[in-house]
Amino acid sequence: MLATLFADINTTFWFPEQASNFAKDVDFLYDLILWISIAFFIPIVIAMVYFVYKYRERPGYKGSPEALHNTTLEVVWSVGPTLIAGIIFWLGLVGYLDMQRPPPAGTEDIKVIAKKWNWNFKYPNGAENPELHVPVGRPAKMIMRSEDVNHGFYVPAFRVKRDIIPGRYHYVWFVPTVEGTFDLFCSEYCGDNHSTMNAKVVVQSEEAYAKFLVEANKEPEDIVERGKWLYERRACKGCHYAGKDGAQGPGPSYNGSWGKPVPLAVGGEANFDENYVSESILNPIAKARKGYETAAAMPSYKGQLKDEQIEALTAFIKSLGSETPPGKK
Ligand code: CUA
Repeated sequence: MLATLFADINTTFWFPEQASNFAKDVDFLYDLILWISIAFFIPIVIAMVYFVYKYRERPGYKGSPEALHNTTLEVVWSVGPTLIAGIIFWLGLVGYLDMQRPPPAGTEDIKVIAKKWNWNFKYPNGAENPELHVPVGRPAKMIMRSEDVNHGFYVPAFRVKRDIIPGRYHYVWFVPTVEGTFDLFCSEYCGDNHSTMNAKVVVQSEEAYAKFLVEANKEPEDIVERGKWLYERRACKGCHYAGKDGAQGPGPSYNGSWGKPVPLAVGGEANFDENYVSESILNPIAKARKGYETAAAMPSYKGQLKDEQIEALTAFIKSLGSETPPGKK
């Protein structure tokens, strides 16, 4: 995790690589504020230390009985900082308005769906993917919504950050300028697994992007492969782990459950079979497992998955077998 956080730290002194049209302006304003602060801090501290020494309490020393005025000095230290604050405000305002106004046409429009605790991206051709792919050198516009609580879309290398509040759409746009893979973080605390709500941003050439779109839309032929493909793309993966190591996510692991009795939150047991899996996909709370009373956190997939897709997911889970992986209670 630490490696992810600091992955880009070497590229510039303060920030990751500048990889979008906004990066230079944001960094310029940051540096400007930083250097203005340093330019004030040093003389103020030197003067303060000097005056503390010069006017210290000592035998025979008598301080001035009232505060003295110096009009020139007072005008300079009032008007000067006001002007500087005005310049900073102006640069910030212009930069902010730039970010608020996507170009009216020619943008690659990508729908972003944020939910606890993963990202899903829907492309113009209908493809869905948990990674954000964008073509280099062309404006990309994110049309973002949340399915539950507040989240934040944040790509440090692009210097863009935008909150996503449920109940309305939020937008952000940028022109990626460098090909490569960058980090996307959720920047609003959204519950237990907020810190794992990350995704990769892949900036690629127009040709590679076009190829990705076609690939991303192609479901594998084999039913188990198709189930795995859906598992990775329809946000199952964020909560239900399927690894052989027995690691546990926010939801029960898929591994090692098939064909076994499942203790239920309301008491009693259910058999982990085709019926149990499809019912749990369509109505997660109906047979919540013991220890997972918060199954209501999972959205119902009713109307979102076709019967044939549920069968594929079931086949994938079945393929994981019933042998309990090590490390699992
Ligand atoms: Cu989503 Cu934090």
